[in-house]
Amino acid sequence: IKTIGVLTSGGDAPGMNAAVRAVVRTAIAYGCSVKGIQKGFSGLLDDEIIDLNAGSVADILSRGGTFLYTARCPEFKTLEGQKKGAEICRKHGIDSVVVIGGDGSFQGAQKLAALGINTIGIPGTIDLDIACTEYTIGFDTAVNTAMEAIDKVRDTSTSHERCSIIEVMGRNAGYIALWCGIANGAEDILLPELYNFDEAAIIDNIIKNRKRGKKHHIIINAEGVGHSTSMAKRIEAATGIETRATILGHLQRGGSPTAKDRVYASIMGAYAVDALMAGKSNRVVAYKHGEYVDYDIDEALAMQKDIDPFQYSVAKILSI
Ligand code: F6P
Repeated sequence: IKTIGVLTSGGDAPGMNAAVRAVVRTAIAYGCSVKGIQKGFSGLLDDEIIDLNAGSVADILSRGGTFLYTARCPEFKTLEGQKKGAEICRKHGIDSVVVIGGDGSFQGAQKLAALGINTIGIPGTIDLDIACTEYTIGFDTAVNTAMEAIDKVRDTSTSHERCSIIEVMGRNAGYIALWCGIANGAEDILLPELYNFDEAAIIDNIIKNRKRGKKHHIIINAEGVGHSTSMAKRIEAATGIETRATILGHLQRGGSPTAKDRVYASIMGAYAVDALMAGKSNRVVAYKHGEYVDYDIDEALAMQKDIDPFQYSVAKILSI
């Protein structure tokens, strides 16, 4: 391995910079050159490639976002795009690429590997929706950001004795919603994985809680369920209790990464380079049962995971 390329792809996530820094500095420790591929696979196809040295990644550890920029790239789904990407890597002498992103980004890494470029993926997404790993870069920061925002909504909701529906990100997964549900002590949590929720039962619950003297009713709604504004209108009409919807949106993706995101991302970055140096390719780094491990990308993409029913039942019991 002589030259390692590194890119971030898909939605940005706090901690991606820590991972890039670790890739760059570990590669340098091995005596390799490092190139930054800007704007993900899209930047690769546009030849947006820069030299990176130890100083290029100074002062980024504590910064949110990704200093390499990121993008989603439909063109890289085509064989023509993939071949062009591999050619551009070769032109720059890049023999190996570290891809930081989600499942879609790992598919890109898989295709590059098939075309003779060594690749390794690092899970980076606030959604935690990568089946092979219990940790993804950015989830911890995003949950903490959402939790703090929800605490604030709760203050005003209580003052006005309102019901509040707060919509959190997660695409088709409910991990952010479930964690906030537990961390914020929400009365109800709506998850896409359990989309059979009964709105009439929620309305009954709100009325019952109000009779018991509860001053607010917090509903955490995952974006995969959606429709928070229309739901708020229906709940207000049915209960007579003022109801507001708050969609937290992209604020959940920004901000300085937590210690956990900085540390795990740094270790995964170093692990990825170690794995490449050990001759591995078409792999993805994961955190499983308390250990950093790696899986074949094909195997990782075939895995499935779901919301833990025990965690959901705990949230329900504690929300009384
Ligand atoms: O995957 C991260 C994520 O923030 C999802 O939670 C959300 O559905 C999506 O990206 C939003 O994408 P965009 O930033 O392109 O609107």
